[in-house]
Amino acid sequence: MPVTTVLVLNGPNLNRLGTREPDIYGTGSLDDLRAELGEGVDVRQTNDEAELIGWLHEAVDAGLPVILNPAAFTHYSYALRDAAALVPKAGLLLVEVHLSNPHAREEFRHRSVISAVATGVIAGFGFDSYRLALDLVRRRLG
Ligand code: DQA
Repeated sequence: MPVTTVLVLNGPNLNRLGTREPDIYGTGSLDDLRAELGEGVDVRQTNDEAELIGWLHEAVDAGLPVILNPAAFTHYSYALRDAAALVPKAGLLLVEVHLSNPHAREEFRHRSVISAVATGVIAGFGFDSYRLALDLVRRRLG
């Protein structure tokens, strides 16, 4: 078993990747993403805000960098934001990612309550958003 070095956390409805609005999110599934990102990466998804918050606490306790697609929680979850803020405060990278470019979409997607506490944000490149985030994390850690 490879040692996990990065947590890749995904929020609500991203379990439907591949069939959910493929014109926006692409045709790849979460399992495809997991396979593409490869070893040392723990790709998780939940529709439950509390579970996502628990995983961020786990990252802090384990000292793991996080790539986070908060999905719709991006736009309104202050509880998730408070949990996310703990990651960089612990000296760990937190990269917010989005498959789509929320700024090019509906107005309610233009606001992220997570971005201000993230180390950085990558959006609009489909699975490449995650790949770029992973490259960045590895470069910073290496
Ligand atoms: C998303 C963008 C969000 O606005 C949306 O609610 C999602 C996915 C993205 O990856 O593009 O569920 O985070």
